Amino acid sequence: MLLAWGFAAYLLSLILRKGNKSKAANKAENKNDKGENTMSKKLVAYFSASGTTASVAKNLANAAGAELYEIKPAVPYSKADLNWMDKQSRSSVEMRDKSSRPELADTDANIANYDTIFVGFPIWWYIAPTIINSFLEAYDFSGKKIVLFATSGGSGFGKAVESLQPSAPKATITEGEILNGRPGNAKLKTFADKY
Ligand SMILES: Cc1cc2nc3c(=O)[nH]c(=O)nc-3n(C[C@H](O)[C@H](O)[C@H](O)COP(=O)(O)O)c2cc1C
Repeated sequence: MLLAWGFAAYLLSLILRKGNKSKAANKAENKNDKGENTMSKKLVAYFSASGTTASVAKNLANAAGAELYEIKPAVPYSKADLNWMDKQSRSSVEMRDKSSRPELADTDANIANYDTIFVGFPIWWYIAPTIINSFLEAYDFSGKKIVLFATSGGSGFGKAVESLQPSAPKATITEGEILNGRPGNAKLKTFADKY
């Protein structure tokens, strides 16, 4: 009889240990008890030359519970580079040549980890700066959902989607929203939750 109880207790301990072990293993893999992945699958990737888009991107990542990645040019844009009144400024020259691909500072974004990537930028000459093409061409976006957001002096997306699609031909690129006027957390959450 004692032996039977001992055996039963041993069996029980095995079952419990198994349960605990798989819970711990699940946690290590960012999965819940059902084995579903609880890790954020959304990334907010942004380029910002003077800080406006950066601020929106940070707040959006917060509201969406997403990771944040800054798309940085290898050579930062100076004030003179951004002078749109000067036809010879770096931004004017780059934006006149749609095949220009400003070099990236790094290619560290772990795109494979995400399903939905919010890509943010300032509107330049009615579309996305060509460094966004550089970013899309630097990774494999096959099967990914790319949602655009931008800040601007008032313009909309113009032909941003058309100009970006060839750089990520196997991704679905959606025009999200122009997020001007320092949108608050509720507004950003509503936007993020649509995707
Ligand atoms: C080179 C350049 C071109 C721009 N072209 C436009 C434009 O076509 N339409 C517009 O509404 N704003 C335009 N802007 C204004 C920016 O989109 C706006 O200031 C934006 O919020 C800046 O974002 P950032 O601080 O993240 O760089 C332009 C700005 C620069 C520097």
